[in-house]
Amino acid sequence: MSDITGRSILASFFHAPRRDGVEALERAVIAVGADGRIEAVTREGEAGYAEAREEADLTLPDGCYVLPGFVDCHVHAPQYPQLGQALDVPLEVWLQQYTFPLEARYADLEFARRNYSALVEDLLAAGTTTALYFATVHQEATRLLVDICLDKGQRALVGKVAMDNPDSCPEYYRDASAEAAVAGTRALIDYVRTHPANSEGRVLPVVTPRFIPSCTDAALEGLGRLAAECGCHVQTHCSESDWAHGYVLERHGVTDAESLDRFGLLTRKSVLAHSNFLTEADMDRVATRGAGVAHCALSNAYFANSVFPLRAALERGVRVGLGTDVSGGPSASMFDAARMTIAASRMLETGVDPALPAGERGRPGSRVDFATAFHLATAGGGEMLDLPIGRFEPGYFFDAMVIDTRAPEGGIRLLAGSGPEDVLEKIVHTANRANITRVWVGGRSVAD
Ligand code: GUN
Ligand code: FE
Repeated sequence: MSDITGRSILASFFHAPRRDGVEALERAVIAVGADGRIEAVTREGEAGYAEAREEADLTLPDGCYVLPGFVDCHVHAPQYPQLGQALDVPLEVWLQQYTFPLEARYADLEFARRNYSALVEDLLAAGTTTALYFATVHQEATRLLVDICLDKGQRALVGKVAMDNPDSCPEYYRDASAEAAVAGTRALIDYVRTHPANSEGRVLPVVTPRFIPSCTDAALEGLGRLAAECGCHVQTHCSESDWAHGYVLERHGVTDAESLDRFGLLTRKSVLAHSNFLTEADMDRVATRGAGVAHCALSNAYFANSVFPLRAALERGVRVGLGTDVSGGPSASMFDAARMTIAASRMLETGVDPALPAGERGRPGSRVDFATAFHLATAGGGEMLDLPIGRFEPGYFFDAMVIDTRAPEGGIRLLAGSGPEDVLEKIVHTANRANITRVWVGGRSVAD
């Protein structure tokens, strides 16, 4: 399995730099620099094409297509062992009954090493080249997750979870105090930024208040100040369910988004997971700050009591990426995240209760199509994170996967002749892991 740094590749590529359409680059040549960034994209008919084609170091066969790697904007790394189970109770019960006890086990570094290694390997093999991770409250295990991402080559943003509120976090699993939550976050930021294997910044630190219910006001204040001082990314959960949304209204007298803003936690580098119950004023506030939403359509079916009005948020200028929310959503695949995004938007549009008349059942104008979902899973997520990833353009990192549409164990069958857009639509809807035959991050081969 070969790296593509300092080399060039001749293949057919798909990407979606904008929300309103995909681009097919048929039999194009992409040259990648030694730094893992794209140096040139040469299409058929352009000056220098014949020469670039002649000199390509790697040529992919017909039936193979290169896609940008997926950007998963919301993953709870420690919850991977619970993927596909524990989906039977509401969010506030799920946290106490299943999730906090599991996350507490990451005090054990061997447990952490085993599970984090499996997760990072599996996500890379599934085409997720960038992940925005919640880790746990633990310093050592979170550092280990950073080390594992660097070792295996995944682009990652990693946060030590801050949760210090004794009213909602169990004694066995919380920060000892607000000061400890802030100091632990600062220590992780320093660890990531000075890591000897991280000179190119492939892993970035994230200020990570779990959500307002888990944090005291003192911790939220300290973390807001820290985010401003360090200029790093911020992630949290926002207005996810009826309960979570109502809790903040009751405690702070304002919505989640407004409260986070008051604490300085709504910045251009903030990612708000779920955000189903954002009001229109919240959406405008989030858009004005340049913050983004990690839309987790599959998880929302289990824990959010509603469908996130994605199209409305996009039309109000909110930046959006997609997330699997491992393990709130029972799939770690960004293909599944994209598919559920499309299906959920259709259900919101038509409504779901057949007992209601058609005209009262849904919210017209809510659907998104496969091109929008593919855009959000790649370029949109990259834009939200302010990283040069997710598209095939000079200056962007060559984070990519090969889809072999003819893989015998794959899910894709191209039986009738179809145009390039049809092929991508089929890939988005029917590809499985056997179709993903190569994955690169910054030109470095990370999975076979
Ligand atoms: N809200 C606070 N913590 C969590 C979590 O781990 N998962 C989800 N889905 N929502 C949360
Ligand atoms: Fe989550």
